[in-house]
Amino acid sequence: MADPARITAYPDGPLLVRGEVDLRDAAGRPIPQNRRTVALCRCGLSTIKPFCDGTHKAAGFRTDD
Ligand code: FES
Repeated sequence: MADPARITAYPDGPLLVRGEVDLRDAAGRPIPQNRRTVALCRCGLSTIKPFCDGTHKAAGFRTDD
């Protein structure tokens, strides 16, 4: 059995997802991914949602953690 995926909230940034995950869009269609580690946007400003494109830094996104 494969190790379960691990999701880590990156301070002032994205959610880092490590391991095998089945990403789907709002309609349930698979979202292709090329890496075993992906960064999911949680600032809402990325132009490549659901993935982080680094915009959070320029926007000054801050988290409470
Ligand atoms: S968290 Fe990085 S662009 Fe949104």
